[in-house]
Amino acid sequence: ARYRIAVIPGDGIGREVVPEGLRCLRRAAETHDFALDVVEFDFASAAYWERHGTMLPGDWQPTLEAFDAIYFGAVGWPAVVPDHVSLWGSLLRFRRVFDQYVNLRPVRLLPGVRGPLAGRAPGDVDFVVVRENTEGEYSSVGGRVFEGTEREIVLQETVMTRHGVDRVLRFAFEYARGREARHLTSATKSNGIAISMPYWDERVEAVGRDYPDVDRDKYHIDALAAHFVLNPDRFDVVVASNLFGDILSDLGPACTGTLGIAPSANINPERRYPSLFEPVHGSAPDIAGRGIANPIGQIWCGAMMLEHLGEPDAAAALLSAVEAVLAGPADALTPDLGGAGTTTQLGTAIAARVGST
Ligand code: NAI
Ligand code: MG
Repeated sequence: ARYRIAVIPGDGIGREVVPEGLRCLRRAAETHDFALDVVEFDFASAAYWERHGTMLPGDWQPTLEAFDAIYFGAVGWPAVVPDHVSLWGSLLRFRRVFDQYVNLRPVRLLPGVRGPLAGRAPGDVDFVVVRENTEGEYSSVGGRVFEGTEREIVLQETVMTRHGVDRVLRFAFEYARGREARHLTSATKSNGIAISMPYWDERVEAVGRDYPDVDRDKYHIDALAAHFVLNPDRFDVVVASNLFGDILSDLGPACTGTLGIAPSANINPERRYPSLFEPVHGSAPDIAGRGIANPIGQIWCGAMMLEHLGEPDAAAALLSAVEAVLAGPADALTPDLGGAGTTTQLGTAIAARVGST
């Protein structure tokens, strides 16, 4: 097989970790008998914005649509372009225009990584958050009246459509069906949010009837957040609305250690448009240019990309290589992991292990 990958390094440490991600992806291709056609783009960056006054060229959509996937670093350089301009002018447009309505974030305890959940057996914490990425609480329906007076009123509506809710639930059930535990947890708050959340619950029941082989339960979001920290072994696939999913998908990776290792995927499951794979972290201006950024988040989202493209063995090989290096001597690791290694040293060490663990 041969896959076309659009690479967008973006800003700051995005430019430092993306080459390490590509090094590992190329090694995975060599050892697993597929080919990658990689084309790198300089847009969606502060440098592009400085030259052109926009984040993206006019033809970005047909350009990127020609690819099987987008491998993205990080965008944002507040000294040059305000964050709301860089983010809304690039990443958020990709997500909307390419209908990437699933945001997938795995939460997995890796060996040797310190965090609130350290001390548990790695196998204890292995779940994935499926966040609805296009509607829900993040709607633009609402407004203000009587502004500035004592009668000021502010409204912002949650929008749930049957189409929007069902499609993300169906994705989550399918995803759970493909995993060993076959267990789906739904995040709700139907005791307090008494119109939209009971509807969400109702659709979980309705869609769930097509998946009798998947166990399901639900928790109110407040209790669920506590259980993420206290009983992470209860979870397998956790599905949530846009806002709840946003919170859970930061909480989960935070429990398992440094931001530098966390991956995410923005998926259009119908494959009508390319999906986008990016680390959870941003461009980290505070450490950019020093060669010490942790490349594991970028490498791990490369594994998610391979899984999505239909190369599960290569994806597993990438992840085993990450685990093997994390379990090894600390000196090869970057400072955020307690080592004194560089981005390139860690990336090279992981690439060397791909296909040999
Ligand atoms: P950030 O994730 O860039 O950094 C937060 C902290 O984590 C910093 O102290 C940083 O040094 C550290 N960190 C992040 N990634 C690391 C890595 N791989 N290895 C070691 N340490 C790491 O978040 P921040 O500072 O809020 O945002 C900086 C810029 O990035 C802003 O312009 C923001 O808009 C943008 N951003 C972009 C995202 C994206 O492209 N999806 C996501 C988050 C922020
Ligand atoms: Mg967030």
